[in-house]
Amino acid sequence: MYHLVSRSLIRGLVNSGGATATAAATATPSFYAYRRMMLMSSSAAASEAAKTTTPLAEEKSVSEGKTEKKVEESGVVVSSYWGIPRHKLAREDGTEWPWNCFMPWDTYRADVTIDMHKHHLPKTFLDKFAYRTVKILRIPTDIFFQRRYGCRAMMLETVAAVPGMVGGMLLHLRSLRKFEHSGGWIKALLDEAENERMHLMTMVELVKPKWYERLMVLTVQGVFFNAFFVLYLCSPKLAHRIVGYLEEEAIHSYTEFLRDIDSGLIENVPAPAIAIDYWRLPHEANLKDVITVIRADEAHHRDVNHFASDIHYQGKELKEAPAPLGYH
Ligand SMILES: [Fe+2]
Ligand SMILES: [Fe+2]
Repeated sequence: MYHLVSRSLIRGLVNSGGATATAAATATPSFYAYRRMMLMSSSAAASEAAKTTTPLAEEKSVSEGKTEKKVEESGVVVSSYWGIPRHKLAREDGTEWPWNCFMPWDTYRADVTIDMHKHHLPKTFLDKFAYRTVKILRIPTDIFFQRRYGCRAMMLETVAAVPGMVGGMLLHLRSLRKFEHSGGWIKALLDEAENERMHLMTMVELVKPKWYERLMVLTVQGVFFNAFFVLYLCSPKLAHRIVGYLEEEAIHSYTEFLRDIDSGLIENVPAPAIAIDYWRLPHEANLKDVITVIRADEAHHRDVNHFASDIHYQGKELKEAPAPLGYH
């Protein structure tokens, strides 16, 4: 898919020349330049890989007469028959891109200057219900985890990645049913779910879940996914408001986490490699830097979800307002 996209993009660049480059430059220059460079590198690497793997594949296909062949190169299995080359990408400093779970164009620098204190004042009955629900949900979390913020964050991220997926999925199905656009909201919500999942992938590098915590995740996911699914079907306005307040609580928890790092209660260990690449952090980044960017992400999720709820409050559908795509 990326190969096709990169090919069509490059074809577009060649055909339209300066026009495409100008359009990209008027958006976010550094991001688009970086992305274009990576796509080109992907395309070049893909052609290179195709050149190197095809003869070998053909040779094996003839000799073994099988329909599907797998060629092992440097310990990586490459599907040769289907013509899917492994992306060979590079970081900005030229070193090889080590991740398959996310690509260079998925990375970003978080806006850590975002206001952490913004709060939606609950005025209507639904808002007050959402606010109280989140406050009540916090009680068992506080009792169970207390000040074990690493563990707490890891467990909560398993829940935080659910609403975006449910909302995005339901908007996707609605778009199919009604033959209409979503205004970018499907992607915005799915991006949020992916971003939360990356928080989790980062946290598990720092905290290893115990067997009973895994069991708890299983149970909580089963209950929360179904409850949120029904809630979103009945009232997306309330569902987004609850997520908005959950994000406010997440900001509070990560602020406490940072306080414990500053006071020395939690060791400020080096940042996991996955976090350095995902948030484009410096090589010498540490846990404090990671928690700072995660907290900034939560503040962006807070804004997106309160905004989505406000749109519904105005009696409109999400597609009527521009989706906050790329809002980090
Ligand atoms: Fe998160
Ligand atoms: Fe979040």
